[in-house]
Amino acid sequence: MLAPSREVRAGAVLTLRLMDEDIVVYRTRSGRLNVVRPYCPHLGTHLGCGGWVDGESIVCPFHRFAFDVDGAVARVGPGYTGQPVRDKLVVLPSDEVNGGIYVWVGADADEAPHWRIPPVLEAPGLKFARIRLGTHPQEITENGVDLRHQQALHAFAEAECIGEPVLDRYRYSYTMHLTRATPFGKVLAEGTISFYGLGFYHLVFRVPQYRLQHDMAVGIRALAPWESEMLVGTRVTMDAARAPLSRLPRAATDALSETASRLGLFSAKRLLSQDVPIWHGKRYINPPRIARGDGRSGHFASGPSSSIRLSEPLSSCVCAD
Ligand code: FES
Ligand SMILES: [Fe+2]
Repeated sequence: MLAPSREVRAGAVLTLRLMDEDIVVYRTRSGRLNVVRPYCPHLGTHLGCGGWVDGESIVCPFHRFAFDVDGAVARVGPGYTGQPVRDKLVVLPSDEVNGGIYVWVGADADEAPHWRIPPVLEAPGLKFARIRLGTHPQEITENGVDLRHQQALHAFAEAECIGEPVLDRYRYSYTMHLTRATPFGKVLAEGTISFYGLGFYHLVFRVPQYRLQHDMAVGIRALAPWESEMLVGTRVTMDAARAPLSRLPRAATDALSETASRLGLFSAKRLLSQDVPIWHGKRYINPPRIARGDGRSGHFASGPSSSIRLSEPLSSCVCAD
């Protein structure tokens, strides 16, 4: 994930880092988003350094060639005629989905995406926070399947896996029960987490006691070796059809949901801040040394370091017990 969609407005040209390289993201005047390698095919000018959007094109500041969204020259600069360059600007496959901008980087420029992130939630109302991490996306993803640390590090009273995980090519999904002890008694949340490759995961928490649902969309960007950015979008929805919320006017339940979404983002950031120092210092152990008790049958603790390693077969699970 490169950025939340709403951060790239029509006419904007942004340079973002991805895997130790620059990538240029722009939005045309009609609202179409495009992601390109930064270098102009004429003499290599970086389009993020002074390039601009003109209608449906991006213009190179050096000799003012304009490129269309397919990367072809749409218009030459002053003093040029005909088709003066053969090469195109390199366009990367991108999608806007779940409130974010996602880009595919294949092994070579012509490699088409093997899969795409499906829309799993509606974007309006999602609040995003950015978190910089001194780690690799693999570690972040494996954290999401490490149930024992939910108790030890995040202080949940219980953390258990429910049912069987789903392994479906690029998607890995499972359901968990997390229990938190509060001064008002135990609160149970049922969470389903689905990972889509190493760049996106969707977490849905339902808290039946409070009749609310907390959605988290997490995009991960590898910036450089052992440097990543996490974009966390959250939304809390409340069941307004049931009492006591059903007695409130619509504007009041909307305002309550808005406040709950902000609280949801705050609590997600607080939980993640507990993982940050662990990620920052830890080294990656491969294969994982799974301890007895690391998950119900070893699938969900450190085990998925092999089962969700996406360059490897998804179906190979580690069983420790
Ligand atoms: S370098 Fe871009 S138009 Fe010449
Ligand atoms: Fe964690």
